[in-house]
Amino acid sequence: MLLVELRKLVGRPRTWVTIALLAGLPTLVAVFLRVTGVGPRPGQGPAFLAQVLSNGALFPAAALALILPVFLPVAVAVLAGDADSPGSLGIAISEAVEDAATRDDTHYSLGSVLNHVLLHQTVIGLELKAQLEQAGIEPDVLVACVGGGSNFGGFTFPLLAEKLAGRRSTRVVAVEPTAAPTLTEGRFDYDLGDQAGMTPLMPMYTLGHDFIPAPIHAGGLRYHGDSPLVSLLRKEDHIEAVAYPQSKIFEAAVQFARTEGILPAPEPAHAIRAVIDEALRCKEEGRSETIVFNLCGHGHFDLKAYEDYLSGNLLDV
Ligand SMILES: Cc1ncc(COP(=O)(O)O)c(C=O)c1O
Repeated sequence: MLLVELRKLVGRPRTWVTIALLAGLPTLVAVFLRVTGVGPRPGQGPAFLAQVLSNGALFPAAALALILPVFLPVAVAVLAGDADSPGSLGIAISEAVEDAATRDDTHYSLGSVLNHVLLHQTVIGLELKAQLEQAGIEPDVLVACVGGGSNFGGFTFPLLAEKLAGRRSTRVVAVEPTAAPTLTEGRFDYDLGDQAGMTPLMPMYTLGHDFIPAPIHAGGLRYHGDSPLVSLLRKEDHIEAVAYPQSKIFEAAVQFARTEGILPAPEPAHAIRAVIDEALRCKEEGRSETIVFNLCGHGHFDLKAYEDYLSGNLLDV
């Protein structure tokens, strides 16, 4: 374990930046004193300074002692800032890959984003398609939330394939948080899937692999990018995308829980928000449409988030 931690420490650029700063500052002070001549000449001035200026071995220690009161709070702030980081799925992936890569008995398997994961998840959409056919229902709108894209892709792709083949006109809506507005505000580019850059580059909508989303309660949607398949579908306008702040999604989640008796996770609550808004649109336009969405997780472990919302402590970020 010590070895793994040491490797992590040595592998991090910030470790080397800190060492370079610590080593570089005394040198800078020495050059400054030499060039400006503001210090007393060797052998003159206060005894301590005279000792330091005439003994090169003492100089780095003395310079560090002078600089640290100024430099240390900055260093501490940087480290504290890092320790307080709300994290992101991009960082979580890096940590997981790093852990797997440093152990012989561990392998890493990505849970979303990659195209084959989405295709694997299409078991949901195939089931949906069979159920709709059995019930004789033609959906007008399909809705799912998007973090990396696996529940969205799995849910929508079997029906979307028929839309692309011209056999359906179903609208498909991807819902994301305004805190990580990848499909609605990101750029289409080659980017890495994780923060440390351990994954291959992928063409996708991205906010930049070092983007750290604000700490909203829908942790599963705090991702800087999206699956290449979902991104291409968005780029070519086969799907729509919408983003909501968390107060709006918890309003919808509570309404859903009160009417359906099911407590949704904050992630699918994004889809529920969009479904309610689609239904309100239908009401306004006097239309009757079938809106189908993926309830991809329960909120039994998200009660703190509900408590924050109900007590008015939820921040929109
Ligand atoms: C309940 C839930 N829904 C949705 C997601 C988003 O992931 P994806 O877009 O890959 O389905 C997550 C991710 O952790 C999740 O936990």
